[in-house]
Amino acid sequence: MARMRILSGMRPSGKLHIGHLLGALANWKRLQDEGAETYYMVADWHALTTEYMKSETVQSNISEMVLDWLAAGLDPEKSVIFVQSHVKEHAELYLLFSMITPLGWLERVPTYKEALEEYKDREIATHGFLGYPLLQAADILVYKADGVPVGQDQLPHLEFTRELARRFHHLFSEVFPEPQSLLTQTPLIRGIDGRKMSKRYGNAILLSDTEEDTRKKVMQMMTDPARKRRSDPGNPDVCPVFDLQKIFGAPEWVARVNRECRTAEIGCVEDKQALADSLNGALRPFRTRRAELASDPQGVKRILTDGAQRARATAAATMSEVRKAIHI
Ligand code: TRP
Repeated sequence: MARMRILSGMRPSGKLHIGHLLGALANWKRLQDEGAETYYMVADWHALTTEYMKSETVQSNISEMVLDWLAAGLDPEKSVIFVQSHVKEHAELYLLFSMITPLGWLERVPTYKEALEEYKDREIATHGFLGYPLLQAADILVYKADGVPVGQDQLPHLEFTRELARRFHHLFSEVFPEPQSLLTQTPLIRGIDGRKMSKRYGNAILLSDTEEDTRKKVMQMMTDPARKRRSDPGNPDVCPVFDLQKIFGAPEWVARVNRECRTAEIGCVEDKQALADSLNGALRPFRTRRAELASDPQGVKRILTDGAQRARATAAATMSEVRKAIHI
């Protein structure tokens, strides 16, 4: 059987946080190590759709994010790691797709209206932003991907991609497989303020934080709001510190906190100290590797240049078929 071909991408948001490691990156690495043909892309054009007014940050956001990818175990020998804008075929396919995409389809994608609400502070009612799912469809189909690992929020874009492929096949001829979404299960990771961890909320523990910063952040974390005094019994089931401890901590410690928080035998400060130790211990190999990689800035460049070349070969082959199908 032919190897399953996987493509996924992230917008270059700079340094990643522990939620990314437990969700997307763990999943990407697993697919890579299980022998799928994996393409992992930095979606820098997609970043421009909402960040065009601060485009000077894009390059450093790309390198910081790719350092995190590599330190998390994405392996340029096994995966094609590349930047979207280095492979111009995406833009050509996007243009050709734009000819056959009814405007209503784009206006109806639920993420479009949500984003207009969310980014009220900037002008994003642009052609480029409306075309966001179209560009994503081109990213996926130009590699003839079979599977696309994504989070829940991206499912409408995958549905859009399949519909567009069907429309292309109906109008011209069969070129693309219908890509399946491979839903990434991510444990709910809450940030220091108890809300979902996100860089935009400023509540994230970054993979590349120092051990001191990690400890400082953990010590500021919200706990069970009903536990006001050390002598109050607490409820670990609603405590973000306990959530993280369940993932990163030793099972005996987790069991102990689960008992002794409820009886006020153990306090939040001790609990947080232990979480900082667990987190720093778990992240130490990652951070060491990241520092090594960061000491050779040319290294990331070389990986991305090589990745672009390999990606382009695949994308160019698809584009020959596409042009033939369209007679252009
Ligand atoms: N829209 C995706 C996100 O914000 C990023 C992305 C761009 C992507 N192109 C893609 C994901 C292609 C999967 C496949 O997370």
